[in-house]
Amino acid sequence: MLKQWDKAIEHPTPTRGSVPAEVVIGGVRIAPATVLAPMAGVTDTVFRRFIKNASVFQSSAAVPVDGNGVDTAQKNLAEAVEATTSNQQSGCGLIMTEFTSADGLSRMRESKRKRYLTYYDDEHPISAQLFGSNPETLAESAKIVEDAGFDLVDLNLGCPAKRVVRCNGGSGLLRDLPLIAKIFEAVRSAVSIPFTVKFRLGWSDANIICVELAELAEDCGLNALALHARTREAGYTGLAQWHWIAAVKDAVSIPVIGNGDVRTPENAAALVEQTGCDAVMIGRAAPANPWIFRQIAQYTESMAATGVGVYDKPTDEDRYRMIRTYFAMLLEEMDAQGAVGRECMGKMKQFASWFTHGVPGGAGLRKAIFAAKTGEQVLGAVEEFFAKRHEAGEDDIAPGVMLSDVAEEAYCD
Ligand SMILES: Cc1cc2nc3c(=O)[nH]c(=O)nc-3n(C[C@H](O)[C@H](O)[C@H](O)COP(=O)(O)O)c2cc1C
Repeated sequence: MLKQWDKAIEHPTPTRGSVPAEVVIGGVRIAPATVLAPMAGVTDTVFRRFIKNASVFQSSAAVPVDGNGVDTAQKNLAEAVEATTSNQQSGCGLIMTEFTSADGLSRMRESKRKRYLTYYDDEHPISAQLFGSNPETLAESAKIVEDAGFDLVDLNLGCPAKRVVRCNGGSGLLRDLPLIAKIFEAVRSAVSIPFTVKFRLGWSDANIICVELAELAEDCGLNALALHARTREAGYTGLAQWHWIAAVKDAVSIPVIGNGDVRTPENAAALVEQTGCDAVMIGRAAPANPWIFRQIAQYTESMAATGVGVYDKPTDEDRYRMIRTYFAMLLEEMDAQGAVGRECMGKMKQFASWFTHGVPGGAGLRKAIFAAKTGEQVLGAVEEFFAKRHEAGEDDIAPGVMLSDVAEEAYCD
């Protein structure tokens, strides 16, 4: 499978599109209308909270203005502080768990389930994603998800991994619409929280069924759809075929979340402009650029205010601080789960590796990180790298980089 994220061809950029301020899915308000895509091995609770925090931005739109158009913040310091605090908002509207096997979940002991479905209060609204092919098991697991307090439950009909497809799960189901209908009905009647589906265009270019599937979902009472605009056969190659997102949007009246190849705020605006989708979902760009959601929010606001989209670009210092924050959060969580050790080291290495994609000289750093034996050594390699860049007066990273091939392998096969 060809994977060339860093050199990928780009979708044309927009002239006037912008990501909607909100989307309401079955009564749950997602504001702004942006979603962190589920990614196996990536979107655990630490990463999800890390992204939500990195996405926080200061909304100027809500700063109170008096009758003469004067910002009241200038008049009264106390009010200003209050306004500042209340205007802080995360640019990431919804987060999702990694996909979880419905078969596994329904068989697991209560204590083990907790580990799979761990989330914290500050993660709301949060959706749990399930995969499987048995309607009863999926319905039972959806109920478990609802009882665990998730705001939404999502069904995965997109995973291309052979081991998932072999059991008819993920994108394997795209070849069996009647079975999908049974699953939709079973899950729908099992839960009252919003129920959504994330799917691909179809099995192959000769079998594109996304519009039929979307209509079926709406008929069965699902509350929203997320479409990754590629076929199973395409894997991650070529450009996502956004025109199919537009076709699905035309066919249904429930919210449609567009997904595929959004790596910059300009891409997000272009996706909305070209498809009319109600929300934008971002996957691979987030681990390499955790500020992507904040940048989209800044771009949207400045576009509305001035007609020119601008956003902060992280400096090396930001990037360095971000790695350290993530490591601290990871250690805390692993400690809470009694899992500090190899797993933690693995995650540190994985993250540092994604996070340095697009950074000039990043390959050398990744090599040093993979040779490290302890957390201190990983951190030491990171520190040395950024110190050298600072000394050399080098700055900044390439915009719009994506998650490395290494991590993607984990989900594909
Ligand atoms: C490492 C990795 C793991 C993924 N795991 C999941 C998953 O658990 N569930 C799912 O629906 N999609 C999964 N995906 C697909 C993404 O959610 C998303 O649809 C895809 O990457 C396209 O969006 P992007 O171009 O913004 O990355 C995964 C993708 C990657 C790269």
